[in-house]
Amino acid sequence: MKKVFAVIFTFLALFSIVVCSAPALAAPLITVGFVQTNTNESDWRTANTKSMQTALTKEAGFDLKIVFGEGSHEKQVADAQALIQEEVDYLVIAGIQSSGWESVARSAKDAGIPLIMVDRKLDLAEDMYTAMVCSDFEAEGKKATDWLKAQNKGEYNIVHIQGDAGSSAQLGRSKALKDAAAANGWKIVHQQAMKGWDEGLATAEVTNVIDAGTKFNVIFSENDNMARGAETAMDNAGITYGKNGSVIVIAFDANKWALQLVVDGKFNLDVECNPLHGPRIVKLINDIEAGKPVDKNAYVDEEIFDSATITQAIVDARPY
Ligand code: AHR
Repeated sequence: MKKVFAVIFTFLALFSIVVCSAPALAAPLITVGFVQTNTNESDWRTANTKSMQTALTKEAGFDLKIVFGEGSHEKQVADAQALIQEEVDYLVIAGIQSSGWESVARSAKDAGIPLIMVDRKLDLAEDMYTAMVCSDFEAEGKKATDWLKAQNKGEYNIVHIQGDAGSSAQLGRSKALKDAAAANGWKIVHQQAMKGWDEGLATAEVTNVIDAGTKFNVIFSENDNMARGAETAMDNAGITYGKNGSVIVIAFDANKWALQLVVDGKFNLDVECNPLHGPRIVKLINDIEAGKPVDKNAYVDEEIFDSATITQAIVDARPY
């Protein structure tokens, strides 16, 4: 009998050693399908992609699958549907276009996959998405037009360089300028959307405006890269701009290099559009996983940077 107890005890001791020393069974990774706009769209987009890749790591418990639209809304929709077929746990979308997402939202809902909008709000009813973490682009635009009005120029002849036509970023910023121009009697002497928010296209566009003899005293550019492109055109034509120049330059995004141009007086104003959504999406998904209540519509806090008040210390401290 004693031998039987000894065998049982030995077995239980060995079993407990094996079980206790076995690595803890790792929780399964949360698969996140991220439908990003384009690989090389702007410095803002590069920072945004990097933020998502840096935050949604396997060490943080995520399997991030990024697909890029490369300028095509149709490709984004097809890629999103493919991710739904792959049964990702979450679908996160930054849309090249704000409209045309109903079929994807319906598929995700039918599959029980939470749909999260990031960066750019999409035209979807509230019951067709789980949450959004976006910028309020019309509010960004109004910050710029309020600042512009406060400059009290005798006249405003504005060249409006727009981003990708139909993106919520372009639609919001453009609406703010349209409304302010109508309310204040400003003239938009030229307006054109740049495919892919492209800096080179902005240089060519403003060159054409200058060559046509169009008189202007404001460049309202819907991102930093295109504003820099416009300045290349003005440099080529010997037109002065910025804090001590003849043309006011307004930009959006507040990339670090652009804020240096604000310090240097080359940009008069830069309106922040914060790309660092990775940590925000991680917190949102972790809160959902934990059954915690989450904000349905979260807008990112953003500020403006004025060449009259910005400091080098502010630029040096900027994270992107
Ligand atoms: O959606 C944000 C916009 O997209 C940024 O202003 C622009 O630079 C980016 O490409």
